[in-house]
Amino acid sequence: VRGGARLHNQAMTSRDYGFSVDYRFTVHATSDAFAPDNDCLSAAMVAPPGRAARALVYIDSGAVAAMPDLPRRIHTWFATHEAQRLRLAAAPEIVDGGEIAKNDLGILDRVGRAAFDHRLCRHSSVITIGGGAVLDAVGCAAALIHRGLRQIRLPTTTLAQCDAGLGVKNGLNRFGAKNFYGTFSPPWAIINDRRFLAAQDDRAWRAGIAEAVKVASIKDAEFLAELVTLAPLLAARDLDALAAVVARCAELHLDHITTAGDPFEQGSSRPLDFGHWSAHRLEILSRHRLGHGEAVAIGVAIDLLYAVQIGRVTRAEVEPVLAALATCGFRLWDEALELRDAEGRRAVYAGIEQFREHLGGELTLAMPDGLGRRKDIGTFDEEACERALAQLRRLRATYPVIVS
Ligand SMILES: NC(=O)c1ccc[n+]([C@@H]2O[C@H](COP(=O)([O-])OP(=O)(O)OC[C@H]3O[C@@H](n4cnc5c(N)ncnc54)[C@H](O)[C@@H]3O)[C@@H](O)[C@H]2O)c1
Ligand SMILES: [Zn+2]
Repeated sequence: VRGGARLHNQAMTSRDYGFSVDYRFTVHATSDAFAPDNDCLSAAMVAPPGRAARALVYIDSGAVAAMPDLPRRIHTWFATHEAQRLRLAAAPEIVDGGEIAKNDLGILDRVGRAAFDHRLCRHSSVITIGGGAVLDAVGCAAALIHRGLRQIRLPTTTLAQCDAGLGVKNGLNRFGAKNFYGTFSPPWAIINDRRFLAAQDDRAWRAGIAEAVKVASIKDAEFLAELVTLAPLLAARDLDALAAVVARCAELHLDHITTAGDPFEQGSSRPLDFGHWSAHRLEILSRHRLGHGEAVAIGVAIDLLYAVQIGRVTRAEVEPVLAALATCGFRLWDEALELRDAEGRRAVYAGIEQFREHLGGELTLAMPDGLGRRKDIGTFDEEACERALAQLRRLRATYPVIVS
């Protein structure tokens, strides 16, 4: 037996294999994608020779409530494009919008069953029209069916158009953890339609602005200054101002995903998750009373003040940014921050451990190094964070409280 084992070891060889895949997708910016003469979707859904291109369509209930004629207009658009052999495999379906969409694994079988019944193949598309949550949930299902159907996304909220809808990730929540299940799977095409931006309610309008402040804080000082200047216009629902912010924010996210060299986050750094260790936790602690963007606004405020504590930025630099968030209508303090665990430790800090696990055991947190530049940290100082939180708590009185 011993001899056999030696022989086996001697015979062992190791060889590395690898490949790289060039992946491309188009981001269209348009107004009114389902106007009969709008061809963004036909550019995304080209029919193979002699066959039809078929799609299943899922629409966020919130988008339908804001634009009740949407399902009818989608039917009309496909009827107009019949000659190009673009077809609905089934009538568009409505998915309950918001985080509830990601809390129910039933979405996998719902989309899966439809794909099975209507015999979708890997050249078929799943068109998802919705906020980040519906895009994440339906996208997760689409990624699993036949190991990945083509995903065409029409993000309908500010946050989805400037962040969630652009990425190469999807996710479902499980065991009280955000995005516990999910895959990396790039989109086939993205269509950012201004009409959806105009139709959203104030809460959805505002939420994505927090992601813009997030990415600007660590990547683009000029954009951050512009956000501070634009805050009153954004608060007054100026569509041109919002569209400009969405366009720049989308560009920064897409640049990062496509050029930073780690689209599938194999390394331990997630710079786009600045402010998110606490945000993800606050979403859960508030039982999703706080939406993602609302939690990110608080998370960014905490991390900016933390950055002041560790000497990365000055209080004077940070204050106009916090004031701009408040002007846009964000509350920068939430009672979920007061919650404590059985040992008396602030419950939000479990977000640090969850973040560490998600990254594979080693903590790397993005921090500004001067506004608009980034330098990660590998250790987290809870006492410094306590001081930052105490400041944030005091600032409550400074900013107008706008109930969202
Ligand atoms: N995959 C990623 O890379 C990524 C990145 C960032 C965030 N996310 C996820 O995105 C989600 C947040 O997305 P969100 O901010 O878009 O919120 P959301 O998807 O929760 O939607 C918020 C609300 O707006 C409604 N809604 C959607 N479109 C509307 C419209 N046009 N008019 C009126 N109401 C509309 C929805 O029904 C919902 O009630 C979170 O689950 C977050 O984890 C994912
Ligand atoms: Zn986010």
